[in-house]
Amino acid sequence: MSQAHNEMLQTVVSESNLGDYTEARSRFDWETVERHFTWHASGKVNMAHEAIDRHVLEGRGGKTALLYSDASREEAYTFADLSEQSSRFGNVLRKYGVAKGDRVFIFMPRSPELYFSLLGILKVGAVAGPLFEAFMETAVKDRLEDSGAVALVTTPELLGRIKRSELPDLKHIFVVGGGPQSDAGLLDFDAEMAAAADDMEVEWLTREDGLLIHYTSGSTGKPKGVYHVQNAMIQHYYTGKVVLDLRENDVYWCTADPGWVTGTSYGIFAPWLNGVTNVIRGGRFSPQDWYSTIEKNKVSVWYSAPTAFRMLMGAGDETIAQHDLSSLRHVMSVGEPLNPEVVRWGWKAYGQRIHDTWWMTETGAQLICNYPGMPIKPGSMGRPLPGIEAAIIDDRGQVLPPYSMGNLAIRAPWPSMMAKIWNNPAKYEEYFRLTGWYVSGDSAYMDEDGYFWFQGRIDDVINSSGERIGPFEVESKLVEHPAVAEAGVIGKPDVTRGEIIKAFVALREGYEATPELKEEIYRFVKEGLSAHAAPREIEFKEKLPKTRSGKIMRRVLKAWELDLPTGDLSTIED
Ligand code: WTA
Repeated sequence: MSQAHNEMLQTVVSESNLGDYTEARSRFDWETVERHFTWHASGKVNMAHEAIDRHVLEGRGGKTALLYSDASREEAYTFADLSEQSSRFGNVLRKYGVAKGDRVFIFMPRSPELYFSLLGILKVGAVAGPLFEAFMETAVKDRLEDSGAVALVTTPELLGRIKRSELPDLKHIFVVGGGPQSDAGLLDFDAEMAAAADDMEVEWLTREDGLLIHYTSGSTGKPKGVYHVQNAMIQHYYTGKVVLDLRENDVYWCTADPGWVTGTSYGIFAPWLNGVTNVIRGGRFSPQDWYSTIEKNKVSVWYSAPTAFRMLMGAGDETIAQHDLSSLRHVMSVGEPLNPEVVRWGWKAYGQRIHDTWWMTETGAQLICNYPGMPIKPGSMGRPLPGIEAAIIDDRGQVLPPYSMGNLAIRAPWPSMMAKIWNNPAKYEEYFRLTGWYVSGDSAYMDEDGYFWFQGRIDDVINSSGERIGPFEVESKLVEHPAVAEAGVIGKPDVTRGEIIKAFVALREGYEATPELKEEIYRFVKEGLSAHAAPREIEFKEKLPKTRSGKIMRRVLKAWELDLPTGDLSTIED
């Protein structure tokens, strides 16, 4: 049945002209996708069961699930291995009383243990919260506090960034690779794992039960906890088939860290729900290292981001010539606008058309894509997948005709749509303020063939190297510095990174605007919040433009920066 089913999905999307596309859309229904899952018959749901244990039960336990490497480790794990390791951690969590609905966070660099932990968390029905390893004290505290996390998995190197005394909910900290822990409340992950049984009955859930929380940024307020539920697996599986084009013998590599949504939806769920071998490469980006990863593992399907492709392009074709990249069959991109010139370069350099895909933390999975079987228009994000309705709407919710710029909106709901913003129902409602639609915050237009073209953010959210940064979080950190009276943060266009963070800073009385002070303020944000959120450029100003209610007008800062007219200043202070 599975085979026939897969063929059906393939035919749904393999049409390559627009007439067929329309027909494929009309034929599509989610119910067909749902039939793939064991819960369709049993009613018992658990992501870790569908992604891992199920393959073991169905005789695929010996297949390689994870090919992990970094500078010091090179390890392979089968689906059976992952099933056992995640059961061990699930049993450890149960031993400490962690149960369904509890939030358990993971704060560590990529390693096999990160994946064992995440799957173990899911096995007990807890909600996983992956945190990017670059986060510093303030960023970590805000997220653990807001989520009320009861347990955390981390490494000895990162322990110092966790303000335990200020996190009363956080009862257990598992330390990976740190040897025996003597400190109360700290547990030795490795010893606990070794002592635990390697099988377990997973917690059976409903499709509406929690899966994970990803913190992400808006233009106002602290980061929001985007809460996803089990139901998302329908779309992870489906897009794994039709957009990632995953097939039985593929070796798949998604370069994203699981601290970001791409690293979970497409670094964990989509490949393993489809039973495919998944490559994880730890450590930092370097062109040599990345090409070696493709060559050594014979990667066939590769999912990365525009900044990385631009850096690879910058590294020159000689670097490519030193590697055998002939295993590549399908290449995709996400996270920021993909320049047409990069698509053309990819075609020349790899013999691959880089397929752009559009989605967000809140959407849980891909929505608008260039996928195999459809003609690519370089510079366009593609078309809505069968099952997804997208439109450009105005601020009152009216659908606009082709070529009008407006709000990129998606007809709600779809299977992987976020289920709430943790602790903040009002924020959640904002996305759905125009009845029937999810309003993305991106502006775009649609052409006459139904392709969508990204234009920018409507709000002040910054996208630097594909990482989403809220100006408010950076500004809040900046004003904690004793020299800073006021700060306004914008995204400044950058050829490689898309945007870089630029801060305008007004100093307190008695401080002198020196290059040393700039450097110190930069380090203050880097060490307090995170490296990727630190402003690469700081400009001192006597005074910042503010509204009469005291809000810094980032729009005016941006106009200064880009030498544009400042627009309507009627609300400015003086
Ligand atoms: C941007 C990442 C242009 C967009 C999965 C969106 C893109 C934000 C594209 C979400 C694309 C994502 N072209 N821009 N193909 N894909 N974006 O939540 O502004 O980290 O709103 O999710 O990235 O970023 P997030």
